[in-house]
Formats: sequence, C-alpha cells, structure tokens
Amino acid sequence: MTRFRPISPQRLPELLRRMPKAELHIHIEGSLEPELIFAMARRNGLNLPYADVDSLRRAYAFGNLQSFLDIYYAGAGVLQTEQDFYDMAKAYFVRAAADNVVHVELFFDPQTHTARGVGMATVINGLHRACVDAFVELGLTAALIMCFLRHLSEQEAFETLEQALPFQDKIIGIGLDSGEVGNPPEKFAKVFARCKALGFHLVAHAGEEGPPAYIWTALDVLHVERIDHGVQAVHDAALLQRLAQGRIALTVCPLSNLKLCVYPDLASHRLPTLLDAGVVVTLNSDDPAYFGGYLNDNFVQTFSALNLDAEAAYVLARNSFEASFLETGTRRDLMARLDQTFETFD
Ligand code: HPA
Ligand code: ZN
Repeated sequence: MTRFRPISPQRLPELLRRMPKAELHIHIEGSLEPELIFAMARRNGLNLPYADVDSLRRAYAFGNLQSFLDIYYAGAGVLQTEQDFYDMAKAYFVRAAADNVVHVELFFDPQTHTARGVGMATVINGLHRACVDAFVELGLTAALIMCFLRHLSEQEAFETLEQALPFQDKIIGIGLDSGEVGNPPEKFAKVFARCKALGFHLVAHAGEEGPPAYIWTALDVLHVERIDHGVQAVHDAALLQRLAQGRIALTVCPLSNLKLCVYPDLASHRLPTLLDAGVVVTLNSDDPAYFGGYLNDNFVQTFSALNLDAEAAYVLARNSFEASFLETGTRRDLMARLDQTFETFD
C-alpha cells in the first residue's frame, strides 16, 4: 500500500478520473452506441425496427439479464465488415483512453456474428487491428478474450474454438457469457479443458444472477483465473474466503448490476462486503453503451453512493493491474504509475 495525503471528498471524483486503471470486463459489442448502430445499418443497407437513435435509447430499460441480451444481440446484427468491427473497437478505445484506462482485456462474442454468416477472420482481424492502433495512437494496450455463449451447446463452443484456432496468436483468453441461470459452468467442462491445454487464460461469468454454486464450479471444474461479476459470492462465507485467500479476482460492474436489477440502487450494492472480505475486486463497465456509463462513470457514481474513500480507489485501481494478464514487469510499471498519481495528487 502506498502512503498518500488525505484527499477531500470534493476532490475524490477528480482522483478517480485521473488515476490510471485497467478495464477487464467489457463486451465490445456492448460498447456499440446507438449513433454507431444507425451509421452501420445505413452503410450496410439494413433496416432497423427503430425510427431513430432516441427511440432505440428509450428501449434500453431492462428487467433482468435476458431482457438486455435480446436487445444487445439485435444491436450487434449491424456488424458485417472488418471495418465495422474496427470502428466499434476504436470508438471504445478512444472513450476508454479519455477515462485514463491504460490497459483493456475485452470480450467478444463470435457466435453472435458467425451465426449470421460473418466470418471469424472478419471479426478477429477487425478487432485486432483496432487493438494495434490503440497502442500506436493512444498508448493503450489491449488484448482479446473470446467468449462462448452459454445458452448454446458445448458442441457449438468446440466448433467456434476450431474456427478461431488459426487466429490463436491474436487471442489471450477464453470466457463464458450470455444467459447464466440454467447454463452452469460445468456444461462447458470439456471445451474449457481443451482451451486450458492450448494455453489460453480462462475466465467465466458466474454469480451475476446465478447462485454461488456456479462460482464454485467455474473455479473447480473450469479452472478459471478470474470470475466475471461474482457478486452473489456475498451469500457464501466459505466462498468469500476461498476467493480472498486465492487472490481470485471478481470483475464487478456496478452500473450493469443496477440496470439489470441485481440491486435496486447503487447504495445497495455489496461491493463493500467484498472489499471488507479482502477479495480482489475490480470495477468495470460491462456494456457501457447500454448501461449508461463508461468506466469513470462506474467509479464516480459507485463511490458517491457507497461513500467510498481514496484508499478504496487505490485498492480497486491496483487490483485492476494485479488481476490483469499483463506480464509481471508491465504490471509493476503500471502500479508504479498509479502510486505516482496518488503521491502527486493535490
Ligand atoms: N452477462 C452475461 N452475458 C453478457 C453480459 C452480462 O452482463 N453482457 C454481455 N453479455
Ligand atoms: Zn459481462
């Protein structure tokens, strides 16, 4: 822990914005803003069932995860060319850099696209080119995590993995997303074992709406290194202890939890319970175009609602580097940059 001068509550939002941080839970298709959806529909000659950007935004009122997923997969339907994937990711990187995000590990859902006849090469080459340019133009490092859709079969996940293997050097990890309840991690035991043998990093969404049991099986059956969301762990003391002792990170997304009605308001979010239990928590935006905020919005609104202080800010930012899949040296350099921000902030 670095030592820093006390920071007044009025200055805290500025510190939250200015501190360097990594984002480890962002679905790139969830960064597609309505303006870009309409622009891509126009250039690809597609009709949308919404008159304009405002009526599409008005449809963003969700009662649970599935009601969001229905609109999210429909929105992703405008992505057709490599340039579409590039433009989507580039727009997100520009927005993230403005929030002092210095490293991103981003999810993509290839099955959403290959099911519509879009080639795996189109998806991965477009996203990868945007990652390369993000470093050159914005100084931001970015890596891709390919997710399997858990509402589909394990066989379909195996087929997706096969299609992606020619691009293995452009993917650092494998994740698991989509509708959680009824699709437990163990449904994907064999394909995750294969991915581990291939040398991929492994993560999975668990304990967003699903029970703590899904977090246990993500750890013990899939052998993931991080849990995405994981907030339901607060209902299982033994699990909290396991996460804390193993320094297994939870990539928590407060505005997502709010918009998908996991909590009635941000003040009810259980982030403080997770921090008090010593769990390595990080804050993330999940699907920022749909949930009303990018990373700094998540930080500022959550800190305000829960009265969190500068020490929590430091811990969360440091956790984001600790939990990343960066090399040790790079991770250390970013932590030093974080220390410097806190030491020189006034
Ligand atoms: N949960 C599960 N699947 C998702 C999410 C999420 O929050 N966002 C995009 N796909
Ligand atoms: Zn997610």
